[in-house]
Amino acid sequence: MTGRPADARMQAHLEVLRLCLHAYLVRLRAAWTRPPGEGGGAEIEGVLAAVGLRADPARAEVDSVRELVERARAERRGPLAAIVESLGLELGEECLVAAAWWADADPQLAVALGCGHDDAGRRHASAPLLRLLLGPFGVTVPPVVDDHGPLVRFGVLESAAGGAEALRLTPTARLVLGEAPVAPLPDVTPLPPRLAGARAGLAAHLAAGPTGPVVLRGPAGVGKGALARAAALDAGLVPVGSGRPVAELRLLARLRSAVPVLPADEAAQAGWTAGDGPLVALTTERSAAIAGYVVDVPAPTRAERVSAWQCALAELRVRASPEQVQAIAARFAFTEEDIAETVARARADAAWRRLGIDVDAVWAAARRQPEHALDRLAALVRPAFTLDDLVLTDEAHEKLRELVAHVDLQHVVLDGWGFRRRLPRGQGVIALFAGPPGTGKTMAAEAISAALRQDLYRIDLSAVVSKYIGETEKNLAAAFDEAERASAVLFFDEADALFGKRTEVRDAHDRYANVEVNYLLQRVETFTGLVILATNRQAALDEAFLRRLRFVIRFEPPDRDFRRALWRRSFPREAELGDLDWDSLATAELTGGNIQSAALAAAYLAAANGGVVAAEHVEHALRREYEKLGKAWTGLSAGGAG
Ligand SMILES: Nc1ncnc2c1ncn2[C@@H]1O[C@H](COP(=O)(O)OP(=O)(O)OP(=O)(O)O)[C@@H](O)[C@H]1O
Ligand SMILES: [Mg+2]
Repeated sequence: MTGRPADARMQAHLEVLRLCLHAYLVRLRAAWTRPPGEGGGAEIEGVLAAVGLRADPARAEVDSVRELVERARAERRGPLAAIVESLGLELGEECLVAAAWWADADPQLAVALGCGHDDAGRRHASAPLLRLLLGPFGVTVPPVVDDHGPLVRFGVLESAAGGAEALRLTPTARLVLGEAPVAPLPDVTPLPPRLAGARAGLAAHLAAGPTGPVVLRGPAGVGKGALARAAALDAGLVPVGSGRPVAELRLLARLRSAVPVLPADEAAQAGWTAGDGPLVALTTERSAAIAGYVVDVPAPTRAERVSAWQCALAELRVRASPEQVQAIAARFAFTEEDIAETVARARADAAWRRLGIDVDAVWAAARRQPEHALDRLAALVRPAFTLDDLVLTDEAHEKLRELVAHVDLQHVVLDGWGFRRRLPRGQGVIALFAGPPGTGKTMAAEAISAALRQDLYRIDLSAVVSKYIGETEKNLAAAFDEAERASAVLFFDEADALFGKRTEVRDAHDRYANVEVNYLLQRVETFTGLVILATNRQAALDEAFLRRLRFVIRFEPPDRDFRRALWRRSFPREAELGDLDWDSLATAELTGGNIQSAALAAAYLAAANGGVVAAEHVEHALRREYEKLGKAWTGLSAGGAG
């Protein structure tokens, strides 16, 4: 209990309880001390005398209780009056609340209540006892406190308080009645300055009166929680979170002393009504689970990101050119919270490695920043290759470099030159890598992301494609959203499985497959990053899809010159090579993938037999590779033939 003395209204209730209890106990004692009748034990006589016993107060006693009750009801100040008024409680209900409070606060009363129950173990208030005590004074108390009554629904009494059980105040009711402060939501993230206008608007809205739910909608980490918190405090209300049961949140909201700030789905389950008072629901979804007044909290614009990064870099004492700031702001579609976390991470990295922080370190921290949900749906590929590792035609090389330049210069063209305004959709880049297996498509995707200094996320089709209707889109949506937020390159290997032709609808399954393609088409249009699709079967891709491709890069099976180059590269420098005839190896019609795996197999053979990779090891490995491909091995031709 708290140290504060109870208010006048509550004090008056204590007097009422004392008088009524006194009258009852006096009657009880009189019944018990009558001389025992014939036969039977004194105990049974006592019980019989107590059955049906009610206080029989004198006129004067009834008058003084009535006067006390009137005095209590006239007192409009203090927390009890506030609860009674805002919940519209009847007098009997009010008496239950007061009794629950005093049973805790006044030990003497508690003892007397135990006597009233004729059970020293039950030194608490209960609805049936209070009904018995107050009835003779003209105060009607409900016989039970059930879950549907206002006392439980509005979080004043604990729910288990039905029947003869102890009436217990909820922790929140106890705080309120004791006039102790309710702890606000912790202040974890600062409010981005750009949300000052929204803060003032929301504060005015909350202060205006009972409004029902307000839905703050926006991407994760834009500061919705910080906004709700700040606005509530400005409106003179305490922001409270889901740490309390809904009923208690309702009590605080109805008292107009607090605003619950909840995730939208929790708020929806709470069944909030406008009569319950203000509530702020937070959601990242377009269609929130709860109806209410919707306020959009957008992600920072690029210009806002630039200034947030400027502050962040200044805070880290990192010197960066305006171009570097522009580039980092353009590449990482971060919220202020993400940026703040990146700063913290860069600091921790620097302390850990005992190094200074420069722009590259910040970039590296930014790459590792979002703890995104992408990991569930996609595999992070740490690029092991560079563009120079690829053996490809000049044309393919040129296109790959163009692709890198295109993504790198997006902020110049789209933002600097204002193309973004012209292109509400299609700002991102979709590239298709098409070609037979083992021609370097996956490798090129890695090399591209390495060149862009971004992460590569390979979408795991088995994790994304769900047999549950609608789940696949949901998973894909999450993958796209997260990739956008993390500025990762999204890589769909075997894209034909997902982006395949929309079929004529034949059965239900086809229909869902079409839904997926339609969703993908539309999401890819609005995606702002880089998506790479790889396929062995370009012809299987949906035409509408092909039309949206910014880059199509074909990976042809290597010709003989390329095969020679591939063979030479297939053995790392450390491997000791015997006398290998590169020209003759190049005659075998294999792809880079086959060559790499033959070279690896040869290396194992060599390691087991002398340690030097000799021609016979390679030939043996080649024969195996042919077997795997189901092709007849006829031996190597001489280098010149072909
Ligand atoms: N053009 C190439 N240049 C250099 N190495 C290559 C090339 N093509 C293939 N390789 C080698 O073959 C390996 C396999 O290639 P990669 O996985 O990129 O093929 P892919 O086209 O993605 O095949 P799949 O269609 O089967 O997925 C690479 O790791 C690399 O060692
Ligand atoms: Mg591949």
